[in-house]
Amino acid sequence: MATIIDGKAIAAQIRQNIKEETAQLIASTGYTPALAVILVGDDPASAVYVRNKQRACEEVGFRALEYRLPAATTQQELDALIDTLNADGAVDGILVQLPLPRGLDEQRVLLRISPEKDVDCFHPYNVGRVMCGDGVLAPCTPMGVMELIHSTGVSVSGKECVVVGRSNIVGKPQSMLLLRENGTVTVCHSKTADLAEVTRRADILVAAVGRAGLITGDMIKPGAVVIDVGINRGADGKLTGDVDFASAKEVAGYITPVPGGVGPMTIAMLMQNTLRAAQARMAEGKGE
Ligand code: GUN
Repeated sequence: MATIIDGKAIAAQIRQNIKEETAQLIASTGYTPALAVILVGDDPASAVYVRNKQRACEEVGFRALEYRLPAATTQQELDALIDTLNADGAVDGILVQLPLPRGLDEQRVLLRISPEKDVDCFHPYNVGRVMCGDGVLAPCTPMGVMELIHSTGVSVSGKECVVVGRSNIVGKPQSMLLLRENGTVTVCHSKTADLAEVTRRADILVAAVGRAGLITGDMIKPGAVVIDVGINRGADGKLTGDVDFASAKEVAGYITPVPGGVGPMTIAMLMQNTLRAAQARMAEGKGE
């Protein structure tokens, strides 16, 4: 029977540390870090995510700036807002909630955000820094996954690490972070010939494909660390992961639940990136 990794408690501890570090920054410099969140359109799930991000900002002591734009917003209008925020010395982080309504070019938006304020770590410049292993900003969800792995005390070095999913947001950067810690990394995807054969080799298994219950207990190596990034809403409205929790927990050594595993970590890491962005900008004399 696996040990359940309590992402909620680990995220709360990280937010507490950020809160203390932020209070020190404010006390020593008089500057308060600020995160600007842009929500275009009225997707209800996105509205919930954005509200949670705002709340987390307030809790750790940041200024939270919210921009709600109608679904009919033009690319030029969105570009103009990003340009204004890029130029605003009192803004440290800019986050455009994805997905964007049809008609808006996501890639163009990600390229427009100044890399130093790109707290999602989605800009190709920052993605490149992740590959080089030397960036100020880290991809939020993959970094949260690393924190959860660290919490188990299991070292990544020399381990077989299998990432299921190759998205730009999770799978690809996740593989880089595992590699940075000397894991032997395999990335699986929809064209992988025999998924179970690969996942069964994993000492550390990260599932990030968005298919409910794809990973079952028989696909897991006994004692493995299993991190479930999936958030799938079932017909009954309940959230489930990419891992079939009931069968997996009988085999794994450590496992994250959904909800309460990776989810809370993403926001904690977003707060960490915002603080790091503010500190880096202050060090360059840019904070106002
Ligand atoms: N939509 C779903 N997850 C994310 C995220 O991490 N960042 C942004 N900007 N949009 C998202």
